Amino acid sequence: MPNTVRWAVVGSGGIARRRTIPEGIIPADNAELVCVYDVDRKVNVEVAREFGAEPLGSLDEVLKADIDAVYVATPAYVHHEQVLACADAGKHVLCEKPLGMTVEQAREMLQAAQNAGVLLGTALMMRFHSQHQEALRLIREGRLGTLVYARTQLSCWYPPITGAWRQESDKGGGGALMDMGGHCIDLLEMFLGRVSRVSCFINNTVHDYQTEDSATAMLFFENGAMATVDTFFCIPDASSKNVLELYGSRGSIIAKGTIGQGTAERMTAYLEQDNSDYDAQQARRSDNGLVLEPEPVNTYRAEIEQFSRAILERKTFADSAQLGLRNQIVLAACYESARTATVIPVPAA
Ligand SMILES: NC(=O)c1ccc[n+]([C@@H]2O[C@H](COP(=O)([O-])OP(=O)(O)OC[C@H]3O[C@@H](n4cnc5c(N)ncnc54)[C@H](O)[C@@H]3O)[C@@H](O)[C@H]2O)c1
Repeated sequence: MPNTVRWAVVGSGGIARRRTIPEGIIPADNAELVCVYDVDRKVNVEVAREFGAEPLGSLDEVLKADIDAVYVATPAYVHHEQVLACADAGKHVLCEKPLGMTVEQAREMLQAAQNAGVLLGTALMMRFHSQHQEALRLIREGRLGTLVYARTQLSCWYPPITGAWRQESDKGGGGALMDMGGHCIDLLEMFLGRVSRVSCFINNTVHDYQTEDSATAMLFFENGAMATVDTFFCIPDASSKNVLELYGSRGSIIAKGTIGQGTAERMTAYLEQDNSDYDAQQARRSDNGLVLEPEPVNTYRAEIEQFSRAILERKTFADSAQLGLRNQIVLAACYESARTATVIPVPAA
């Protein structure tokens, strides 16, 4: 049985070149980069040379090559057609988030993968962050008590740029909320369970492009917990600390910067020692939290190794495809809420 998955990368010039190839595919224990394809010919050749891969001239050529899996890292508006083509060709496919631009597209991608008997994954790599996994462990152990409230923040400065696909509605599918808020929503559903209804605002507060540069969403969860997502394309990078806050009846976990592309940031848990001696009048203890420092994990390597393992172990379907679809369902409800200025129920599936 082979112990290495042979990978192709489509759309190799962006996040693939910066992160997923050098930090994920190349160092992964069970992956090998075979070929790359990018519509930008110069970039295509450069990336191939940089990482010792073969530069191919089209998606068709990629799908005829001797590969097992394709990592689709093209802009959101290309995901649907490319994932369908990969599935048709019998190739496993890991698609960057968001999984297409709409719920319908995501459903069709899942269906195509299922019909073809190939694995489909969504690259929601922030789940793999070791501090997020540590927070999840504490939550599952009940150390936070009843989950009450969470906040996820992911913002950056993204000025108008001619031709930038994230700034055009029919290419990005949305702005800050679709691009970055999706990660926040996905993490919240990992920590708190399923969202049942949402209320959301979007706006163009600073930048005058088609997609929103500002979004806040309030989420209500099936278990009664609540959360907010705040995500902006119009806050300077250095000003946004990308906080994660998780509150329960017995404690909290507060982090800065774990939501993002890095591997280790500051995360502190503030846990009640014992609820039996809990004194509601007690002054809030300051700075005596538990600093959470699990072994750092590179999130890009983790996602590639997990997907490769699933292929090698011949699993039939990857649940990160479901996560990608679920993400689209919650995002669609948020956009609907913003459009209608109403609270929108989120269907279970
Ligand atoms: N998880 C993360 O950390 C993360 C970070 C950034 C981007 N992303 C996701 O990755 C995807 C790409 O984003 P990006 O920032 O790298 O975009 P980008 O525009 O920087 O790069 C996309 C690349 O795809 C190429 N391309 C465009 N159309 C193509 C086509 N039809 N066939 C082949 N190549 C094509 C472009 O030439 C470019 O090199 C998006 O879905 C985005 O949401 C994920």
